[in-house]
Amino acid sequence: MRSLKTPERAGFAILCRFLMRALILTGGLGTRLRPLTLTLPKPILPVVNRPFLEHQLLDLRRQGVREVLLATGYKPAAFARAFGNGARLGLKLRYAHETRPLGTGGAVRQALTFFKGTTLVLNGDVLQRLDLASFRRAHASLRAEVSIALTRVADPTQFGLVETDRKGLVKRFLEKPSVEELTCDTINAGAYLFEPSALDLIPPGVLYSLERGLFPELLKRGRRMAGWVSHGYWLDIGTHDKYLQAHVDGLGGAWPLPLGGLRRRGPFLLDRGAKLSPRAVHDGRGQVLLGRGAAVAAGARFSGAGCLGAGVRVAEGAVLNDCVVLDAARIGAEARL
Ligand code: GDD
Ligand code: MG
Repeated sequence: MRSLKTPERAGFAILCRFLMRALILTGGLGTRLRPLTLTLPKPILPVVNRPFLEHQLLDLRRQGVREVLLATGYKPAAFARAFGNGARLGLKLRYAHETRPLGTGGAVRQALTFFKGTTLVLNGDVLQRLDLASFRRAHASLRAEVSIALTRVADPTQFGLVETDRKGLVKRFLEKPSVEELTCDTINAGAYLFEPSALDLIPPGVLYSLERGLFPELLKRGRRMAGWVSHGYWLDIGTHDKYLQAHVDGLGGAWPLPLGGLRRRGPFLLDRGAKLSPRAVHDGRGQVLLGRGAAVAAGARFSGAGCLGAGVRVAEGAVLNDCVVLDAARIGAEARL
């Protein structure tokens, strides 16, 4: 018998890694994050002072993805302004715009010609460390048409519940289950591997959902769907609490921040042109990021994580505890946030 680790196999694995394309669903209205999403779409909201999606794109690039298609709907110009053709991030980035929302399934169907072999599809509002190589191995070994990355959460009612059998094949997919319907704690992490054949069932040009339409339909027809549990960091940033949590976690070291170009002064990280009084204090838990040209006066006190956008001013004696302050805001003397 031939060993599994033949050079051909290793070469094939490397090739697969580099051939992967990714479609990212970014067309949602982000209603739960209003009023922030009235001016910017959710995937472009700043997270540690970079458009949220940039973290996801940089991670894809690190794992060998080179071509990405963004399925946009709400405020498409903001995406083009932030990323253009992707060259800044080392990616070939294209856009597929929906003039009216097609839903997660309709967006995938509209991108049919982008699907060449196994293709990665991602929700555009999830911060996660996904091991793509392992995900892909599981997908191939179970010969699935669609594989869903899963994560475990304490309350699955806000997500898509995914129940698998002992081999890892999906038995049930139930979007936003009620408490009575819970049978496990594994949920759809918002990352899928698709074989193009799985798209046949999606009707073209109409509003259609992956979660409420395609996945239950595939299961009903006995087609193979696999679930693969991801153990990496995972957070859907879709609510105010979670948006803040993304910052607290990143500045606390739970997911890797892109630190290029920042200067460190103890727990403070300073971007270009930022000014920090030597008499500003921090309680030592977490880190505080000062964006470009931000200024912090003497006697300002921070505890926990802090993220100040570009040009933010924090006056004397202000107290900030786990705060995200967006670009150009002024925090007055003695203010408590
Ligand atoms: N292009 C496009 N068109 N994208 C859309 C549309 C659309 O009509 N509707 C939603 N999206 C995008 C959103 O921008 C988001 O990135 C993603 O699809 C998921 O939509 P959400 O509205 O954020 O869904 P959710 O958070 O309630 O639930 C989804 O994510 C959970 C994980 O965070 C589902 O996929 C759940 O099953 C999953 O557990
Ligand atoms: Mg979401």
